[in-house]
Parts: sequence; structure tokens; C-alpha cells
Amino acid sequence: MVSAEQIPVFDEDAIRQQALLTPPATHLTGARRDAQIVRIKKLLQERDAVLVAHYYVDDDLQMLADETGGCVADSLEMARFGHDHPATTVVVAGVRFMGETAKILNPEKRVLMPTLKAECSLDLSCPVDAFNTFCDAHPERTVVVYANTSAAVKARADWVVTSSIATRVIQHLHERGEKILWAPDRFLGSYVQKVTGADMLLWQGSCIVHDEFKAEELKKLRAKHPQAAVLVHPESPGDVIAQADVVGSTTQIIQAATELDNPTFIVATDKGIFYKMKQAAPGKTFIEAPTGGVGASCGSCAHCPWMAMNGLENLGTTLENLDNEVHIDPDIGQQAMVSLTRMLDFAASENKSAIGEANIASPS
Ligand code: 13P
Ligand code: SF4
Repeated sequence: MVSAEQIPVFDEDAIRQQALLTPPATHLTGARRDAQIVRIKKLLQERDAVLVAHYYVDDDLQMLADETGGCVADSLEMARFGHDHPATTVVVAGVRFMGETAKILNPEKRVLMPTLKAECSLDLSCPVDAFNTFCDAHPERTVVVYANTSAAVKARADWVVTSSIATRVIQHLHERGEKILWAPDRFLGSYVQKVTGADMLLWQGSCIVHDEFKAEELKKLRAKHPQAAVLVHPESPGDVIAQADVVGSTTQIIQAATELDNPTFIVATDKGIFYKMKQAAPGKTFIEAPTGGVGASCGSCAHCPWMAMNGLENLGTTLENLDNEVHIDPDIGQQAMVSLTRMLDFAASENKSAIGEANIASPS
């Protein structure tokens, strides 16, 4: 057994402070919005570029990705799409690790982002030097890292996983008798450990957005909406996950809303997802899971401050100037490609699609 003091600590308060100080992109309306949309569509064509957006970014960016032949997706599908698409430039509207993943998988392509300052609290919680020391101390363990990490951390890992495939990869490694060193999300790690029974040593990072969902308040909300199904992203705390009807990645959550008969859904993930959920399941009612109430310290209120840095203006300027290009040290990129490709090959080798993995549970 490993004692808690062997797990490296990091300054969680400083990460939260940084999130609070992050300026969101200006949300454009009226003629300024329309002009930017026209500009971006034209530039995407001129630059032979494709827009790959995450579900948490501004609705207008999601709309543009859809209308221009790009994609709006979870982090696994974003990686796959950018890899398979023939465009020579990939523009990633999301956070830095998503742009880095695109670059690692496509070293020959130009990868741009509306801003290179869009961080992720999980990535920030796992600096590579401390991580390497941690791995060195546990050489007997297979190193599995969440996609929400830097290229250098991925380069050290044996496997990269996203939330849509984490349980199946760990189950596979557990069945092979492997012990796991997992980083950085403690909630996703605990959830996967519980489902698979694998021996997992967990780094103690968390997502500052999902960390805010409150179990007690969720119980009260469920009582008010007895017909509602609860859909939870596994970056949420364990006592919130325990109340879920479905636990899954962003894509899996949207899929559940289309497949379940419930008229109403309580959703514990970033509220950017409602844009696609409403399109996918029109006529159904979606309610945000509570972030306030007992123990509230809401610094994010169910919206990722770093995803919110992506806007029409900085996307247009990036395409115009071809700036904010993602660069990765080629040696690190080559090593990180190995652990990332392992995940993509694993996903491809499965009969059922990654989307089918969402865990349907009985609420406690
Ligand atoms: P997904 O892979 O489910 O899209 O999650 C990425 C993420 O950062 C969620 O906070
Ligand atoms: Fe990272 Fe959380 Fe933002 Fe996702 S929502 S990018 S995990 S900080």
C-alpha cells in the first residue's frame, strides 16, 4: 500500500486563483457577430483549415464547426477527427491539451488555437517533473494518464485515455494483471477503480468546474423532479456520481439524453453542452446540476473559464494571421504519439463504439 505522503502535492488554491482571473472572450452580437462569422468561413476555406470544437465552447463556435464541415465532439473524437481529416491546418477551439493532442497526432499539419492561454486545472495540477519522480518511485506500475495533461506527461505514460474510454482500458489492463499508476483526476480515477476493481494509485488532481457540483443540493433537486434522469461527467465528485443514472463523457451524456425516455434531465457537466443536447433531444427539458448551496465556493458555476477564452474574434484573428500555432518538441511528440496511438488503436479494435460505453446505473 502507498501512503498519502508519497503522492506529490501541488497548489490547488493557486490553480483556482488563476481560473478566477482568466478573462472570457467577448460574446459578440448583432452586426459584429455576423461579420466575424462571414470572415471566419472565408478564412477557413482560404487556409485549407478545419475547425474542431469541444462541446464546452461558445455556441457560435460550435455552430461554425458544424456548418463548415468540422466537428463538435468530446476529446477522444476531436483527436480522431483532426487525425483523419485531410485539411492541412486544424484549428482547435478548446483548451491547450486538445491542441497539443492534435499536434502530436499530426506533426506534419499546422495546428492553431484561438488562444494558447486556455489551460485546464487537471493539466496544471500535474507538472512533468513531479510526475516523473512519482513514476520513478513506482516502476512496477503501468502509467495511465488522462488526456487532460501536457505533451510531456503523455510522453512519460504507457497509455493515454479520455473519459469515454478510461473504464474499458483499465478493465483490459486489470485483466492482464497490471497495477496502475493513474493521473491526474482523482474523481475519474476513483470512479474507474470502483467499476473495474483494478489496483490504482491515484494522483490527486481535479477539475475545478466539476468539483463544484454539490451532492446535497442535487438530492433536493432530484426530489423536486422525480421524472428526471441524472447525467454526470465522471470528473465530478464521488457523492455526485453516486446519484447518477448515467455516467459518461460529454458525447455519452448527449447520447443518453436521446436514448432515455425521461422528459427531463439534470446534467452535471459544463453548461456549454446544452447547445448540442437541445439539438439532439428537442422537446426535452435540461436542468443544470447545482453548484451552489451547502459548501458552495463557486468559482466556475458550471462553465470552464478556459474554454470561455475561445471566441469569434480571436478565432478570426488567428486564422487571419496564422498565429497561436501549437508547437511540440519533436522528441516529446514522438513519445507521446505512442501512448496516444495505443488508445486510438484500442478504440478502433473494439466492436462496439466508444460512445456505447456510458455507464447506466441505478441512483442510490
Ligand atoms: P470529454 O472527453 O468528456 O469531452 O471531457 C473533456 C473535458 O475536459 C471535460 O471536462
Ligand atoms: Fe479542464 Fe475542467 Fe475545463 Fe475540462 S472543464 S478543460 S477538465 S478545467
